[in-house]
Amino acid sequence: MHDLQELIDNNARWADSVNQRDPDFFARLARQQTPEFLWIGCSDARVPANEIVGMLPGDLFVHRNVANVVLHTDLNCLSVIQYAVDVLKVRHILVTGHYGCGGVRASMQDRQFGLIDGWLRSIRDIYYEHRVELSKLPTEEAQVDRLCELNVIQQVANVGHTTIVQNAWHRGQELSVHGCIYGIKDGRWKSLDVTISGVAQLPPQYRLRPQE
Ligand code: CO
Repeated sequence: MHDLQELIDNNARWADSVNQRDPDFFARLARQQTPEFLWIGCSDARVPANEIVGMLPGDLFVHRNVANVVLHTDLNCLSVIQYAVDVLKVRHILVTGHYGCGGVRASMQDRQFGLIDGWLRSIRDIYYEHRVELSKLPTEEAQVDRLCELNVIQQVANVGHTTIVQNAWHRGQELSVHGCIYGIKDGRWKSLDVTISGVAQLPPQYRLRPQE
């Protein structure tokens, strides 16, 4: 069990070591943040955004929730996307899932977990839509992992369907939305090659013209 003092001591050592390597580091960051990336990932403690992709403080703007879900009614996630795109002008949005995600696994089970069941409900819908494909996989683990990928692919689409991202594209702002997945077992992070970088890549039914 860690107590708070242990964390405070860790922090002091970390701040000292950063200062030794780069005495101007914190002063520079205090002036402004200019991240090129927005990370949308799972809250899972084993998926620490910056560490996985070797990024320093200041490099990633981060939103995490259980099972990296992007819902069009979630004021929290949408506010993060809006600030990142409109104000910080990030170039890349990295929707990152991970294999063995507990939230995705829960979406495939018939037991209740409480409030979280509502949050995960849209993943259950993805499970239902892909039930035939998923049922052909040999093990439960393989099914969970495939649904983790399908969830990322859906969330990439959801990000692209927001007016925030579409308006950035209408303005000519360079912005790509990527789908990535992380392996807790091997530490590897990879692209699912579902990047979208413009309105033309969206199905016509989801394209929205700029407001007049
Ligand atoms: Co997870």
